[in-house]
Amino acid sequence: MTLCFATHNQHKVKEVQAILGEAFILKGLDEIGCSEELQEDKDTLEGNSLQKAEYVFRKFGVSCFADDTGLEVEALNNEPGVFSARYAGEQRSAEDNMNLLLKNLASQVNRNARFRTVITLITPEGIRQFDGEVQGKIIDDKRGTEGFGYDPIFLPDGFSKTLAEMSLAEKSAISHRARAFKKLVAYLKGRKTSSVHHE
Ligand code: IMP
Repeated sequence: MTLCFATHNQHKVKEVQAILGEAFILKGLDEIGCSEELQEDKDTLEGNSLQKAEYVFRKFGVSCFADDTGLEVEALNNEPGVFSARYAGEQRSAEDNMNLLLKNLASQVNRNARFRTVITLITPEGIRQFDGEVQGKIIDDKRGTEGFGYDPIFLPDGFSKTLAEMSLAEKSAISHRARAFKKLVAYLKGRKTSSVHHE
């Protein structure tokens, strides 16, 4: 089965292809002739991943899936959420985003937060969504140099290392993205469980 992963990031395509195995041929956007940046202007992760997958399915006629991720901070009414990439502005700087978040949290005792990923899969049979999350706390100082985005200030519950102090393998064992993709892959491989979808 050929499936499009609605992303321009070839690294992400390779990672998921490796988990899926040879029964699936995964293609990124560039490989199906889509060079444009996909719009994601909805106010939920569910809405954005659906918007991207729907666009590709309609315009290119291929079964596909799209993902969207956000950091949801309890004391900030789940912000930055869908604005995580551009929280401090269109320059999309991880440093600026973390500094703004720490400033906005300065007077807050509640540091609870979670990363959440939502994947929308569209095939001729219909639409399915899969999610994954990791709960943790936002800490005051940045720690670690691995990973990206908000990793240096995110301490997952039950761990003494931030996501940026973990190796890729350690992060992948607990991450929001890995958890959501595991559900997608299990579904695609036919090991469907009742808890993985909500339509
Ligand atoms: P995307 O939907 O995967 O592009 O993620 C949107 C934004 O969320 C990124 O630009 C980052 O700011 C943040 N983000 C997503 N995943 C992670 C992660 O694993 N660690 C830290 N920040 C992340």
